[in-house]
Amino acid sequence: MPNDKKFLHLLDLTYLKADLIQSIIDRAYQFLDQNNKIKKSNDLSAITVANLFYEPSTRTRATFELAAKFLGAQVLNLDIQHSSTKKGEALIDTIRNLQAMQCNIFILRHPSEGAASFVSKHIQPNIGLINAGDGCHAHPTQALLDAFTIQKHKGPIDQLSVAIVGDVLHSRVARSQIHMLHQLKARNIRIIGPKTLLPKNGQALGVQYETDLKKGLEDVDVIIMLRLQSERQNAGLIPSGSRYYHQYGLTEESVSYANANALIIHPGPINRGIEIQSKIADSPQAVILDQVTNGLAIRMSILSKIAENQQEF
Ligand code: CP
Repeated sequence: MPNDKKFLHLLDLTYLKADLIQSIIDRAYQFLDQNNKIKKSNDLSAITVANLFYEPSTRTRATFELAAKFLGAQVLNLDIQHSSTKKGEALIDTIRNLQAMQCNIFILRHPSEGAASFVSKHIQPNIGLINAGDGCHAHPTQALLDAFTIQKHKGPIDQLSVAIVGDVLHSRVARSQIHMLHQLKARNIRIIGPKTLLPKNGQALGVQYETDLKKGLEDVDVIIMLRLQSERQNAGLIPSGSRYYHQYGLTEESVSYANANALIIHPGPINRGIEIQSKIADSPQAVILDQVTNGLAIRMSILSKIAENQQEF
């Protein structure tokens, strides 16, 4: 994997070892004060970060922009809808032009799986590159902020049983979370959902399968809820939204199947009344907005580590 040792590229979590994951989390802790407020600095004033989002985003795009600004970096948010992409410019040519404008770190979200990996093979060797989500493949910074959130609220992950509930099949978040949970040696990893929304290669993923929510949530310490990703689904995978909510929605009743005070997380955007009851999403057990704050700190940690490694080039 190029630049693995130097950590200039974060493409997925398959090659990120537990000690690097933990050091990213440990540094993220340092960016939060005791009141959970971000500590700002000017350490990245020589860096220009380019946000390239070829798919919609609220959390990832905004937190990368703020993370870069909170570290003193310059930020370019390319408006893809009004860029020369619309005139047929290839992704790699867009990147090369932005390199010529002296952008140092690229954040890329793209609908095509492997887009970030492809770009990594064609950019200058000292350029930073972070995959902010590529198709159904990976969303590594989301999994890292989830690891940070789980540790912050529940302690070491190796003591915990974790369930991922919902549309795992189309979820890049779930794939990255499963790699993260394996690296941090979660006691047990389960995926729960209708057969049509679970991947066929569960054994290869090294997780337990469950189609019954009640059975699946038994003895679980952390519940990760997923959105139905209708933009990536074929029609007919679930009978109806209301039936899905009845069988797999996290409600006052279904949350009681898990351990008392099980932590509830969700990468967002949440769809109230589809995968999660409004009351549960807003309950103290659900730390969905703290995930967002932790995402800022994690992205500051990743940007600062990449910038440090760039100085050694
Ligand atoms: N969790 C997440 O990736 O959200 P956005 O699509 O809003 O960035």
